[in-house]
Amino acid sequence: MTAAGSRIVALGHYQPSRIVTNDDLASTIDTNDAWIKDRVGIAARRVADAETVADMATYAAEKALASSGLSAADIDLVAVATCTSIDRCPNVATRVAARLGVTAPAAYDLNTACSGFSYALGTADHAIRAGAARNAIVIGAEKLSDVTDWTDRTTAVLFGDGAGAAVVTAAGEGEEAGIGPVLWGSAPDKGDVLRIEGWQPYIQQEGQVVFRWATTALAPFARETCAKAGVDVSELAAFIPHQANVRIIDGIVKRLGLGPDVVVAKDLVESGNTSAASIPLALSKLVERREVPSGAPVLLFGFGGGLTYAGQVVRCP
Ligand code: UT7
Repeated sequence: MTAAGSRIVALGHYQPSRIVTNDDLASTIDTNDAWIKDRVGIAARRVADAETVADMATYAAEKALASSGLSAADIDLVAVATCTSIDRCPNVATRVAARLGVTAPAAYDLNTACSGFSYALGTADHAIRAGAARNAIVIGAEKLSDVTDWTDRTTAVLFGDGAGAAVVTAAGEGEEAGIGPVLWGSAPDKGDVLRIEGWQPYIQQEGQVVFRWATTALAPFARETCAKAGVDVSELAAFIPHQANVRIIDGIVKRLGLGPDVVVAKDLVESGNTSAASIPLALSKLVERREVPSGAPVLLFGFGGGLTYAGQVVRCP
């Protein structure tokens, strides 16, 4: 059965317990707390030990499912956005499904690096609208510590591990869609500026190129995302961009002209850059802390490796 739209009904997140502060990193590499806070905005990050991408994805999804009012038997699609899963097969989505007891879902992983959650949410929304699914779990999960060169100060200070998940369901008869149209795209000509290549890879990037692109190219796309949803930028209750750098976030906020009342996620301060997990992680925390009223419009906007970007306006569950 096709649906007029879909909505997020519940969220959940998981972060490993081990906190690594800037001072911890400064004890092994040539960096310091002041530089990292000033140039990036990160104070600490969580680093996984034994947990895999599938473990973290499962813990986040369990929480989202538990507060959704649905059970595993209701779920017919599991989508996982990740660029750090070491295992090729089985994919993370089927591992999560098996552990949650979801018996026969469509189950796929999707890799568009840091924009992955918005891409995956877009595909779940499309599947529900097309009648190919009814109730989905969409997850962003990353273990960047596995692909980080801990001796390279230009990348080691940036990243963290974690997962966030959303339960998405078909909008009921006469009910408004809670997930706006996805705007997605990429700049493949710049694809080589961020890489996780080869066997046993390390993440490498030309940080300044990514920075310039993010602070100049993305605000118009974020504005267009709102227009596609029929929401004026001035109506937004919250903005949850990918959590890469506070200076990038502030730059986009300024170019969008967001007012002081708009809640702007800055979860990277305590979590670092968790790539595809950063948006659902920040959104889940914001909802948990009741910082945005239910039904209020929230702009999600991811960007990163590829160089890819994607966003949508969602109604807060
Ligand atoms: O999520 C995926 C998308 N990725 C991004 O969005 C990343 C975008 N880029 C950035 O956020 C920034 O470019 C970085 C945070 C990666 C780097 O900040 P920057 O302000 O562009 O620094 P820089 O590379 O221009 O380096 C400035 C100075 C250099 O020293 P000199 O040559 O001026 O003496 C670096 O060697 O800072 C030095 N530096 C550091 N110093 C202390 C670089 N990394 C560090 C460090 N600690 N960790």
